Amino acid sequence: LDAPLPFYLTSDKKSFAWPSVVERYPIILTQAIDDMHRTISSLPADSPKLPEGKKIIAGIAALKHEEQHDRVLTPLPDDGDADVKDYNDELKYWNEREGREITWFSGPWLYVECYLYRRLHSLFAQSEHWKSYDLFHRQKTDTFRSSAAAVNELAVRFGELVRDLESHKGLTRDAEAQKLLFLEMAQISLWGNATDLSLLTNLSYEDIQKLQGKEAIAKSAANILVNNLDKAWGFISQLKGGRIDFVLDNAGFELFADLIFATYLLETNHAQTIVLHPKDFGWFVSDVLPADVAHCFSQLRDSTFFTPEDRSAMDFLIERWMEHYAEGRIVIRPNHFWTTGHSYWRLPTCAPELHADLQESDLVIFKGDLNFRKLTGDAMWPRTTPWTNAIGPLATSGLRTLSLRTAKADVMVGLREGLEEELDQKDTKWAVNGKFAVVFYHDAKK
Ligand code: F6P
Ligand code: MG
Repeated sequence: LDAPLPFYLTSDKKSFAWPSVVERYPIILTQAIDDMHRTISSLPADSPKLPEGKKIIAGIAALKHEEQHDRVLTPLPDDGDADVKDYNDELKYWNEREGREITWFSGPWLYVECYLYRRLHSLFAQSEHWKSYDLFHRQKTDTFRSSAAAVNELAVRFGELVRDLESHKGLTRDAEAQKLLFLEMAQISLWGNATDLSLLTNLSYEDIQKLQGKEAIAKSAANILVNNLDKAWGFISQLKGGRIDFVLDNAGFELFADLIFATYLLETNHAQTIVLHPKDFGWFVSDVLPADVAHCFSQLRDSTFFTPEDRSAMDFLIERWMEHYAEGRIVIRPNHFWTTGHSYWRLPTCAPELHADLQESDLVIFKGDLNFRKLTGDAMWPRTTPWTNAIGPLATSGLRTLSLRTAKADVMVGLREGLEEELDQKDTKWAVNGKFAVVFYHDAKK
């Protein structure tokens, strides 16, 4: 149940996989060690966490050594988590498929990268006092703090939007303005995943009202290589009181942007329920853990964390979110499948209950790059491959899906003939630098 093509391998020097294993992962592990040192340095000398913390540091250092020396991937120890067998069976599967023991620098990139975070997690799972410690919390927090300007702006924008919807003036009546508003909100969520936030659409209330927002939207839409947002609007515009799921990606600014999009869907009554799918443990550094949602609220509330330009706009937004959350319209639903190494080609077979739950949803939104890699199996598709071929079983799975992705890894599909060559001429890093995006909508409920 895998894509019938070779996968991106970490040995592929032309792909972003190679600098990832050679440079990026050792840096991530070094930062992890640094984080642990900082945490244990503030513990009292007699803390029971101290000896265990030191043991974890030694474990991360050993993992870094294995990684940098291109050792074979070893089975996970039985650390008590339910997914150990699953990871180890998959490792066996790859070893058999490749006819050799795969190593850090010569394995399928998707599996190797997931395995890295699972190995890190194992060190904490085996401890007594560090089980729920988030190794990447500091980094996530620092990055969020540095996006203060964009956060402030969106908070103000959101306040205007809700007030406008409530007064039932202007926007709500005009079909064209409604569509522009949807495009703006969806693009805020899309570009929230970018490395370069300058691409975020910035519409003022007046812009939208006068429909001048078209220009700003068109400008940032120019970097969206395939854009199915019109199709998605075709569905959402007629949806009333539905359920919309977000398979989340990163904490901090992206989560903030996703919550703005989600709240827009609730406030306009297109959705009655929003289901958020976070990760179970520190994942690809910045991914959302359940606790990050609460952190996001408390950081926004804390005037020493962000100095809000408009405290009342921020408070209004938080109050609104808390209300939706308290009344069960925003739900957080973890599932261990999201932190396996499986591509979503295997969702129906490896996670049938999760699949059945997602079938209940009116629309499942997959955020970000890793979700896109999993949707397409991280296989070396010709870049003009139709979306419905690239997502395999999900094309006929009974799910209605929307993938919002800024491109940070090599896999890419759905491009029109000749576009890849045009992009190569302009920018050799176009596929991985996070400046370009793709939006795919597919309705497999029909
Ligand atoms: O491109 C670097 C990388 O770590 C990829 O390996 C991974 O797919 C991606 O970034 C994660 O990005 P995102 O947070 O958008 O899923
Ligand atoms: Mg991520």
